[in-house]
Amino acid sequence: MSELSPVLTIDGPSGAGKGTVSRIVARHLGWHYLDSGALYRAVGVAASWANLDISDAAALVRCTFDTHVEFVESASRGMRVMLNGVDATDELRLETTGAVASAIAAIPEVRAALKERQRAFRRPPGLVADGRDMGTVIFPDAPYKVFLTASAEERAERRHKQLKEKGVSVIFSDLLREIMARDARDAQRAVAPLKPAEDAVLVDTTGMGIDQVVACVLELLPTAAD
Ligand code: DC
Repeated sequence: MSELSPVLTIDGPSGAGKGTVSRIVARHLGWHYLDSGALYRAVGVAASWANLDISDAAALVRCTFDTHVEFVESASRGMRVMLNGVDATDELRLETTGAVASAIAAIPEVRAALKERQRAFRRPPGLVADGRDMGTVIFPDAPYKVFLTASAEERAERRHKQLKEKGVSVIFSDLLREIMARDARDAQRAVAPLKPAEDAVLVDTTGMGIDQVVACVLELLPTAAD
């Protein structure tokens, strides 16, 4: 294992701040970044573009193999996600896409098809991997593992604020219900359910600002962050 690049896994439920924290930490360390949720979302968007029936597991598995996902850094617009050459970033971030991704992510063959693609992100000098099963299934040997949580109410509030800033109006109680439903689906599925790895450090971010969370995560990496 010593020849492998180090990995910091950051798992947790939707809205715990994984994406923002992972990006900042990866930039700070100069490491690569894997947004594994974007891969599941990409399959969801590709499936909807192809008008696939979400209950047709075989078609979704074929769709997973046929979907080429590329992360492209744009100087003016940040990281863009290209799906078979088409910029799907905005559609990827929709709440509805998250819900479809969560349903698709429960299909074992889809998870298996995405396994090696995720592992390929492990390159020198290191990787910050954000998702639900990074520390348990994809990179079980990662030397650094974090599980970020926050109360469902706080996660719904954060999401509500983000959407409001973008000019999207949503009803708070709908958002809270959707977050709780997604938590339950992600945590109760048979394959790679959302749960902390046994050797993960649990960080409850309720009431914490992003800077505080980032500092807390970096503290776990004394040698890598030096
Ligand atoms: O992190 P996210 O909200 O972009 O993820 C969307 C969905 O994808 C999430 O509800 C569950 C699924 N997912 C997963 O099952 N495993 C991962 N490693 C990442 C995401």
